[in-house]
Amino acid sequence: MTRGAVVAAGMATAVGSLPARGDTCAATATPAPAGVAWEDGVIAYAGLADGLPWEPTTGSPDKGCLVPGFVDAHVHLPFFGWRADEFEARVQGASYRELHGEEGGIFRSSRLLREASDDAVMAFCRPLLDEMLRHGTTSVELKTGYGLSVEDELRAARLARRLAAEAGQTARVTLLACHAVPAGMTRADWVQAACDELIPEAAKQGLADQVDVYVEDIAFTLDDLTAVAEVATRWGLPLRVHADQLGPSGAAEAAVGLGARSADHLNNCSPNGVAALGAAPATVAMLLPASTFSLGANRPPVEALREAGAAIAIATDFNPGTSPTCSMPLAIAMAATLYGLAPLEALTAATANPAWVLGLTDRGMLKPGMRADVLLLEEAGFAQVPYRPGHNPVVTTFVGGEAASPAGR
Ligand code: NIG
Ligand code: FE
Repeated sequence: MTRGAVVAAGMATAVGSLPARGDTCAATATPAPAGVAWEDGVIAYAGLADGLPWEPTTGSPDKGCLVPGFVDAHVHLPFFGWRADEFEARVQGASYRELHGEEGGIFRSSRLLREASDDAVMAFCRPLLDEMLRHGTTSVELKTGYGLSVEDELRAARLARRLAAEAGQTARVTLLACHAVPAGMTRADWVQAACDELIPEAAKQGLADQVDVYVEDIAFTLDDLTAVAEVATRWGLPLRVHADQLGPSGAAEAAVGLGARSADHLNNCSPNGVAALGAAPATVAMLLPASTFSLGANRPPVEALREAGAAIAIATDFNPGTSPTCSMPLAIAMAATLYGLAPLEALTAATANPAWVLGLTDRGMLKPGMRADVLLLEEAGFAQVPYRPGHNPVVTTFVGGEAASPAGR
């Protein structure tokens, strides 16, 4: 039996039933010396340091804060290569929509991925997962979506599974079955291929844990979403939806109607969408402020969502087009500064709620029985995290009770 424990000047964690919303959405802070103890990777105790069942192996009661590991539940890895020149063009006035052509945007990332060997893709992605680990991400989603053919999507899912097996953190794979209409195909033909071949094949081979659709005027429609949802449900795969990012489409309310685990982005979510998410028993509003920042986009109706009672999560949306950041502390800072989330509300949104979205019910909170995914942060209060955007506040990332030692810078 392996035992460990860490102590710090404070602790903060979400509590209560999930997904947390309304009164329970702010994490509870313990502004006094606190500790977490674990046995064989599972938390045995979390609370005041005085009550620790055995001596701490690390940390100090005078400094730092303990929080659950971050769960980044919207991530577009695997991809290969960057698109800084598109960013440069956007800064000078080009729009994301304009750059979304055969040579740019998602299509370009698709070509780059296709032209790279499996080993090259792995070598590109591994250090990025390490970077995420250093920034406290102990569970992560890996989305496909740059395949744009049945074969290449299956390959992306296989590469995601391979990355998951090697990564220092837990990874769940989402098949982003409808991301862009492949060149030379009609939208209807691709949706049919996704429904008849891609999703069933990915499910049979055990390559995907969830299915996602990008609903947008440059991508897929509500009818396409409904068709994909039906097939995903048949194969037992929970649904995720890219909803109302560039314009309003009604995707948020459709996501709720279809029982999706989350509606993501929501920059242009309508009042109906807000009401639907507020009343949704099981669809989380996944906010992606780093892509809002990078695109200079309008913010989602965050106050209205909160007031309606929506459950809120935050993720990086890490991808080479709209969000080249993979740091959850930075996404949390942007959620606070751009979206007005209180620091402790942002903590729940970055831990317990996204764990629920990914179906990882054994983590996201510091309490007995949960996996010992714990972060030792450098300052005592969690507000320090959003207060210092761009700084990495993580001193130690514990994954299942082991201090992670990710390679790299
Ligand atoms: O979540 N919105 C669609 N997909 C990504 C961007 C993909 C890309 O530009 O490569 C997003 O923002
Ligand atoms: Fe996305």
